Amino acid sequence: MPETPFIIIAIDGGAASGKSSTARALSERFNLLHADTGSYYRAVTSELLRQGASPGRTETVKDALSGLRLGTRIQGRSAQIEVSGRVPGDEIRSREVNEAVSHFAALPELRASLLAYQRGQAQAARDGGFAGLVMEGRDIGSVIFPDADFRFFLQADPAERERRRVRQGQQDQVAERDRLDSSRKASPLARPENAVAIDTTALTIQEVVDRISALVAPRLAPR
Ligand code: CDP
Repeated sequence: MPETPFIIIAIDGGAASGKSSTARALSERFNLLHADTGSYYRAVTSELLRQGASPGRTETVKDALSGLRLGTRIQGRSAQIEVSGRVPGDEIRSREVNEAVSHFAALPELRASLLAYQRGQAQAARDGGFAGLVMEGRDIGSVIFPDADFRFFLQADPAERERRRVRQGQQDQVAERDRLDSSRKASPLARPENAVAIDTTALTIQEVVDRISALVAPRLAPR
């Protein structure tokens, strides 16, 4: 019997570049498990803030990380992170987390603590009977899954990205997070070599999804 194909799609890009909506739509279209790694960094940041850790004092971060228990709850096609048995709620989109997340995410200790967890989502997708994994973030095609079957890099005009956040009713720091994410030493935000770049400024989500689907579909039958 031919082996059932299993694919990994990596989607990277800056803040509000359209990664989450695109990844979610692809997960529905092709029955893939969707992992939003930004929400993982946000969840861990929220927990570290709760514990009083500060990105400027590495020992407080290391202490808090050593006691962290991470799990996964699959809800529909979404792989949600559990921190100490609980899926975090809206607090991960708060202003405090928006301000702190890129500072925590720049710490190699914190990135290391999420590395195996993120790679493990491929097995979770297999175990859950999904046709593959679509994972979005900043370093998925470069560090987490450099051998992913497909690697995309989404870009958009900074002004348009600010407008998207305002339309979502969020106070965000799109430009500042991008600056920090691109300039950090550990796994900076950068377009991985050979990744397909898509400028989403003037495209609808549907158009972005259609472009990606045209490349992916030959490898996977739509449901
Ligand atoms: O949704 P948005 O693109 O604005 O951000 P996000 O994906 O929720 O990610 C929040 C923050 O987590 C980013 O600004 C990065 O600092 C960090 N992050 C990261 O360093 N590496 C990832 N793979 C994903 C997120």
